[in-house]
Amino acid sequence: MLQFLSVSRRFDDGYYGLRDVTFKVDPGQFVFLTGESGAGKSTVLRLVFRTERPSGGTILVDGVDTSAVHGSSLTSLRRSIGMVFQDYMLLFDRTVFDNVALPLAVRGVSKRVMQEEVDTYLERVGMSGYQRRLCQSLSGGEKQRVALARALITKPKVILADEPTGNLDLSNGEKVIEVLRDANLRGATVLMATHDLYLVQSTRLPYVRLRGGRKVEEGNF
Ligand SMILES: Nc1ncnc2c1ncn2[C@@H]1O[C@H](COP(=O)(O)OP(=O)(O)OP(=O)(O)O)[C@@H](O)[C@H]1O
Ligand SMILES: [Mg+2]
Repeated sequence: MLQFLSVSRRFDDGYYGLRDVTFKVDPGQFVFLTGESGAGKSTVLRLVFRTERPSGGTILVDGVDTSAVHGSSLTSLRRSIGMVFQDYMLLFDRTVFDNVALPLAVRGVSKRVMQEEVDTYLERVGMSGYQRRLCQSLSGGEKQRVALARALITKPKVILADEPTGNLDLSNGEKVIEVLRDANLRGATVLMATHDLYLVQSTRLPYVRLRGGRKVEEGNF
C-alpha cells in the first residue's frame, strides 16, 4: 500500500532529514514508525501526504508514484489518506463540531449524516459533549483526539498518525491505539509515528526504526 524506495529528503539548508530509506507497508497492515526526536518520522509522513517532496527515490501509494500526481489527482490522493498531524492543524477559532465535520462538508455530505458521523467519531475518541467547544480552548490531549476523529471520519483506506498519543496519559493513549486498531481491523492501512518504544514493544506490531534520517532496523518484537 505504501512503498518507499531509496527515498531521501534534503532540505533547503542542505540538511538531510532522510537518507536512502526503503520500506513498505502492506495493505491492511499496522506499522509503527519509531525513532528518537529528529529521526525523520514526521518527514516520512509528510512525504506520503505530499506536503513535502523527496529529493531522491520513489514513493508509491497504492501502486501510484506520488511524484506524478498533480491537481485533482493530488486532491484524491490526500482524500484517500486520514492524516493526524503532530501539531493537530485544527482550525482553532472554530468549534470541535466544525473541525470534525470539515472533511464531510467538503465532500457535500448532508447535515443529518454529518451530525450522526460526528457523534460516532467523537464518542469513539472519548470526546462526546465537546461539540460546541472552540478548539483553541481545548487541552493538548483533547486537540489530539479531535484531530484523530477528523482524520477517521471519512473512513480513509490509509491512516497516517504522527505521535497521536504524544500528549496523552496512559489510559487515553491506550484508547487512541484501540481506535486506530479498530480502524485497521475495518480495513485501513495504518502507519503511526511514535518515539515510544515501550508502546511499540507492548503492542507487538511491525515497526520501522529510523535514526538520523536512516532506517536502522525493522521487524516485529
Ligand atoms: N524544513 C526543514 N528544514 C531543515 N531541516 C528540517 C526541516 N524539517 C525537518 N528538518 C530536520 O529533519 C530532521 C527530521 O525531522 P522530523 O520532523 O522528521 O523528525 P521526527 O522524527 O518527526 O522528530 P520528533 O519526534 O521530534 O517529532 C530533524 O533534524 C529536523 O530538524
Ligand atoms: Mg515528528
